[in-house]
Amino acid sequence: MKQDKIRLTVNGSSHDLSIGVNLGEIAPSETLVHTLRETLGLTGAKESCDHGACGCCTVIMDGQAVPSCMVLTVECHGKEITTIEGLQDPETEALDPLQQSFIDNMAFQCGYCTPGIIMTSKALLEKNPRPDEEEIKEALAGNFCRCISQYQVIEAVKQAAKNGR
Ligand code: FES
Ligand code: FES
Repeated sequence: MKQDKIRLTVNGSSHDLSIGVNLGEIAPSETLVHTLRETLGLTGAKESCDHGACGCCTVIMDGQAVPSCMVLTVECHGKEITTIEGLQDPETEALDPLQQSFIDNMAFQCGYCTPGIIMTSKALLEKNPRPDEEEIKEALAGNFCRCISQYQVIEAVKQAAKNGR
């Protein structure tokens, strides 16, 4: 049966989207990163390689870190998605402790890759709250940074894990 509507939950909010090729509709070929950025106004996930190779567009979908440039929006019906915007406390607007740890450790320079790295790290810590350095490196193997701040990234994730975050 042809599906012309999908519902997805992003950062706790439900969105009904129409599938089609008209203005305001989601094309069947549209990727999730595009929908997040252009339709939902969530520009935290960055679009860079558009081929699943850099990790800049990473979001958490049903508990897994996924490159949102490699997922078609039409495939996301019923999915729970968290973007970097969803980590902030909605009431106090306080940053997630993992985000704060990146700041405390100066774990970014230009910051373009940072939302993807944080979302991958967040998914890791949800599954494995006390990862060792090798596990952190393995989890982040698909996230690339052009500013050579990887050492601080590992320290930031380690510190967040140490603090039970
Ligand atoms: S933009 Fe998605 S992995 Fe590079
Ligand atoms: S901080 Fe610049 S690309 Fe990573």
